[in-house]
Amino acid sequence: MIKVGILGAGGMGNVHARHYRKMSDVEIYFFDPLTDKSEAFAKQWHATPLGSPEEVIQRCDVVDVCLPTDMHLEAGLKAIAAGRAVFMEKPMAKTVEECATLIEAATKANVPLSVGQVVRFFAEFKTGNRLVKNGAVGTPAAARTRRGGLAPLGSRGWFQDHARSGGVLLDLAVHDFDWLRWTLGEVKHLYSRSIGIQTGSGPDYALTTLTFESGCVAHVEATWMDPNGYRTTFEVAGNKGLIQHDSRTNAALKTTFDGKTVTDNALAPQDDPYFLQLSAFLTAVKNGTDPVVSGYDGAMAVSIALAAVESAKTGNVVTPARI
Ligand SMILES: NC(=O)c1ccc[n+]([C@@H]2O[C@H](COP(=O)([O-])OP(=O)(O)OC[C@H]3O[C@@H](n4cnc5c(N)ncnc54)[C@H](O)[C@@H]3O)[C@@H](O)[C@H]2O)c1
Repeated sequence: MIKVGILGAGGMGNVHARHYRKMSDVEIYFFDPLTDKSEAFAKQWHATPLGSPEEVIQRCDVVDVCLPTDMHLEAGLKAIAAGRAVFMEKPMAKTVEECATLIEAATKANVPLSVGQVVRFFAEFKTGNRLVKNGAVGTPAAARTRRGGLAPLGSRGWFQDHARSGGVLLDLAVHDFDWLRWTLGEVKHLYSRSIGIQTGSGPDYALTTLTFESGCVAHVEATWMDPNGYRTTFEVAGNKGLIQHDSRTNAALKTTFDGKTVTDNALAPQDDPYFLQLSAFLTAVKNGTDPVVSGYDGAMAVSIALAAVESAKTGNVVTPARI
């Protein structure tokens, strides 16, 4: 049996627990300071509540950090110092320096470290990446992504304090920055405009134009101002063709309930991207192989997102920092 300790029994803690529950060789332990959440979580996922983050770290083989983003660094470092394999939800941390500190600590301690850049496990994005790399559109020249829905709140509204969540650029567009980097290579420079940079809280929208070292250009739109439900799109155009995805038009199921619309694809449980990402990480831990998404990948996605934040603040074209 492998003991997985989840820190944070909120939105993502529940998503992760749902998928660990399907794995016959996993025991779930967790800590969340909110008693009502903790009780419901323990009951729903047959998970064992522990008294503190430290106890989770001490008792478990793998620590899964599902905390608000500004708490990732401290929890990750404590788990690494105890020699645990660490899975961090995205974005990996709040600054490039924090990400570098986590990577350095994990390398020194020789423990596996991975980041929840789950988009790499979504069938459309995974296949899109493979097709582009295999030349399905010829030489890629221009890409476009869009991601977003309504503004999330999180426990005690932490998402809406951009000093904690990073707003749409760090919290949301980080998914597309990672996918584009995985698909098209390193970013040379970028330019970004954002609503949230001016307000620092509440609804947010940002548009970022990127130039890749390959010469390819892309634009990434991220929004917390779309009441029609969560939607992702991408297109990549090359000299021989175009590849396109739109989750809203491709969705097999659309449910509107209590003022919210959710779209779903009819995936078998074992094809769910969150299940795939967590089982891939545990397989790497068990086999002593490199995780599919490295700490470096997570850190570079943060670096691109923070370059976009800087550009949106200053109006300058910015080159993402290399780690
Ligand atoms: N990959 C994705 O698709 C995705 C989606 C949403 C959020 N996220 C990321 O996941 C992380 C968590 O987001 P969320 O939506 O679950 O937030 P959330 O607010 O729903 O959950 C966070 C939980 O952490 C708990 N918490 C606070 N302090 C704690 C402590 N000291 N120890 C243990 N628990 C503590 C809170 O009580 C809360 O239950 C964030 O980094 C977010 O950006 C990823």
